[in-house]
Amino acid sequence: MKTLLAFLALAILPLLALAPGCASPSRGADGAALYANRCSLCHTPYSPSDFPSGVWAANLKRYGPRAGLSERQRDLVLDYLRAHSSDASAFAAPGS
Ligand code: HEC
Repeated sequence: MKTLLAFLALAILPLLALAPGCASPSRGADGAALYANRCSLCHTPYSPSDFPSGVWAANLKRYGPRAGLSERQRDLVLDYLRAHSSDASAFAAPGS
């Protein structure tokens, strides 16, 4: 019985150690994926460079709930859209 417990502990601990890694993938990639998946439910997604960042903020307020995004997901999508918006240079480092 002791051996079984030790085995289980050894088998499970590495999985727990890996878990935090799953919770923090790159924010930009997350936002891009959410945008592509959720904001395409009703219409072809607009290009991020179609609007300046301030307009994207307003658009997300309006359409985030329709796409079923949580507040956190909405922030991720907004980060992504701002970084690629028509006035992106005000928010993003060159090249990002
Ligand atoms: C439930 C359906 C639905 C989903 C999901 C959806 N949209 Fe829309 N979207 C619409 C409709 C319908 C319009 C046309 C204008 C209107 O009636 O509000 C529109 C228009 C737009 C426009 C054009 C500007 C405007 O207000 O007319 C933008 C930008 C936009 N959507 C962004 C988004 C983004 C960003 C998401 C993801 C967070 C999203 N949409 C998800 C239905 C949706």
